Amino acid sequence: MPKVRTAVLISGRGSNMVSLVEASKAKDYPADINLVISNKPNAAGLSKAKDLGVMALAIDHTDFSNRREFETALDAVLREAKTELICCAGFMRVLTPWFVSRWEGRLLNIHPSLLPKYKGLNTHQRALEAGDSEHGCTVHYVTAELDGGDTILQHKIDILENDTPETLSSRLLPLELTLFPKALSIVAKTYRT
Ligand code: GAR
Repeated sequence: MPKVRTAVLISGRGSNMVSLVEASKAKDYPADINLVISNKPNAAGLSKAKDLGVMALAIDHTDFSNRREFETALDAVLREAKTELICCAGFMRVLTPWFVSRWEGRLLNIHPSLLPKYKGLNTHQRALEAGDSEHGCTVHYVTAELDGGDTILQHKIDILENDTPETLSSRLLPLELTLFPKALSIVAKTYRT
């Protein structure tokens, strides 16, 4: 069975993307990362992807007059590359219902909270301010509702007494890096069945 052709969307440093690419190099991994796209031309992740031998390019959202035009260009590049699945890995653009409906069921996102808690931004700060005892990360399907689609996998950590947004973020990141490849593997395995 050929590996499922997967694109990764990023906006920044790309550590989740690197982890997905590295996992996908295993012979028995069911997905292949064949394209990385950033909406920010200066994203550090672009050169990391190229160093790993993956085609990487920027589609700068500021070159377009509205979301729909940006997404039309994005969609065209994804289709040209015969993309089957898309992973949003630190992709910090909200996708419109138009784009989501074209890729629904094939569009995954990693979010740094225990969804449905803390959709949107500043998740570590919000978990601390709420006095939560647990925090975590979630890989979920993207739907038209922001951070609202079905969960594929979730990982929990305990919040410690002296935690700050920075310590939470640095303890959570390694867990994100194992969670996303696991979740993509689950989705890719069932993709052709
Ligand atoms: C990750 O922590 C990811 O969960 C988060 O951005 C970071 C990207 O890091 N995503 C979101 O906040 C999405 N709303 P990375 O570029 O090093 O993978």
